[in-house]
Parts: sequence; C-alpha cells; structure tokens
Amino acid sequence: MNTPSKKQWLSSYEEPTHVHSFSMPDNIKKALAKELIIAVNNTIGMDIAAQISMSESIAKKAFSLSKDFENDYEKLISDPAVAAIYIDNLPSFTGITKFALNRLLALVLGVRFGMPFQFREQHNGILVPELTPKKGSIGNTNSSPEDFGSHTDDAYIDAKFRTKYIGLLGVENEQHTPTGYSPIARIVESLSEREIDILKQPVFQFRQPFSFVTDSDNKWSESKPIIYFDEHGLLSVQCPTYNTRIDPNCEIGVQRVFEKFKKVVEESVNWVIVDPSTYFIFKNDKGLHQRKAIGGKRTIFRTYWHDNLARLMSKAGHTGFVFSLSDLKDDTRD
Ligand SMILES: [Fe+2]
Repeated sequence: MNTPSKKQWLSSYEEPTHVHSFSMPDNIKKALAKELIIAVNNTIGMDIAAQISMSESIAKKAFSLSKDFENDYEKLISDPAVAAIYIDNLPSFTGITKFALNRLLALVLGVRFGMPFQFREQHNGILVPELTPKKGSIGNTNSSPEDFGSHTDDAYIDAKFRTKYIGLLGVENEQHTPTGYSPIARIVESLSEREIDILKQPVFQFRQPFSFVTDSDNKWSESKPIIYFDEHGLLSVQCPTYNTRIDPNCEIGVQRVFEKFKKVVEESVNWVIVDPSTYFIFKNDKGLHQRKAIGGKRTIFRTYWHDNLARLMSKAGHTGFVFSLSDLKDDTRD
C-alpha cells in the first residue's frame, strides 16, 4: 500500500476555514516538556481532581510565556467564528514514561476549555483513553480502522450533557490519516433557507452510538432537529450521518433534504493531520467530524471536555468525572 505523504494529503484538500492553525513557540515547548517531566512522577496515585489542578497550573505557567500563543489558543472560546484549533510543534516523549507524559499533556492542552469527563461504557471509563484501531471492530466507531463517517458525538443524548469539545493529541500516525471537520457555519452557506428550515424541524432520530457496549443495538432518540440554536443563540448541529433516521410521519421531501445535507457536509470538510506532536480540539456542536481509513499504526489520546460539568453531576446525582450513559439519558425509544 502506498503511503501518502502529509503534503499530498493536505494538497488534495481546500484550505481550512473555521479551523485556526498555529504552532507552539519553541520556548513554550521547552518549558512545557520540562514541567511535565518534573510533574509526571507526582501524578502516580494522585486523584483526577488533583491531576487536573496540576495541569491547570502547568498550562498557566507555560502558556503565559507568549501572549501571541495565548491569544491564538483563546480564540476557540473568544471568537465564535473559530470552531476548532490545530496546534503543532508540541513536545514529544520517548521511554517508559511516554504514555503517562502524553496523558498529562492531553490534560494540560484542554484544561483551559473546561473539565474532562468520560462515559463509563466507553474505553472502560478511562478519562484520557489511548485510541488505536482494532481489526474487526464495528464500523463507524473510533476503534475501527475503516473510514469513520461524518458525525457529531452523542446526538442520542440531550445537548446539555454532551461533550462541548473533543481534544485529540497525536502520538503516532504512520500514514498521516486525516481527520475531517465540517463546520456548520460553512455547511449552511450551501443550503437554501427552505432546506435549513427543514433541517431545523424536530423530525430526525439518532441511534445510540455503537461505541456504548451496553444494550447498544437498536435504541433511537426522540425526534430532534439536525440544525438548532444553542443556549447562547449560536448556530449548532447534531447528527451522526450514518445513524440517523427520519420520523415516518413527517412530510415527503425531508429525505431529499437530508441527502443534500450529507452531500454538503462532505463538500465542506477541512482536513487536518493529527500527527505526532500535534493537537486538534474542536467544538462538537459546531461541526461534524470524520476520519479516513487508518493504514499502519495510529495512536491518539482523546479527551472529552465540558464547560459545565456541574450540570452532568447534577443530572447523574453524583460527583466525579465518569458518567454512565443511563445517568444522562432517561428516555429512549425503540
Ligand atoms: Fe466522534
């Protein structure tokens, strides 16, 4: 199998829009690597809350070395036109502590945007799971080596309890497998007013994700819109394109609009390569993400980030960072 170079992948796609790319300055990279190496031994046996607060202080200390870097970084929350950021020139690690160091780095890189959390049913509830492809995995899951279609995560559950941001720290990517992100702001530019209106109707049902191992197969959400406005009035999207069905009682023509939506999603995609020493973090509700089939070895550390974890704790009725899907979802329909 031919291995496409990173340049070949990138040159075959359009320039990113709504994805802000920048490099970590060398002085921050050096300082961050040093801080992480000192800190990592102290994390052994440390609880998650303490690891997060340690990550916060490492991020504050290292990132404040460059105002420009901090400004770029903050754009994910300060600029509504920025739906994702992609950072390269991150420190990389070798040796027996590299996994612990990468996990800690993944926390440091996302902690500015919220609190990390995980579902008990996914990746054994590990807060920052290491994702690698496994042959024979069910399609359209993050362990499948095949193409992973366009989706937002967890449209099945209420928007309030879903991840706000998904952070991917690249550790290994032999064949430069690209990750795609189609911002909703770009998608709507290619849809008519009428098509947008139809996509705003609550007539779409989303299947429980296959990655949830418990009684997963055929549970569907109540009917919801694909395009909606979030609590801040910002245009938002929810849709696993391969796991969506249309309410049978709705008007004819919705299927055609949904097909058009899927076509436009593919035409609106920005590709980034989550290679070693890069970090890609994107808003789950401001675009759909996807990944090409994985050839060779690929390892990323993925973290879910929520900007209001108290909401999940209140709904679930317990504190902590790991929640069961059933804690956050109480109505399902077959
Ligand atoms: Fe996903």
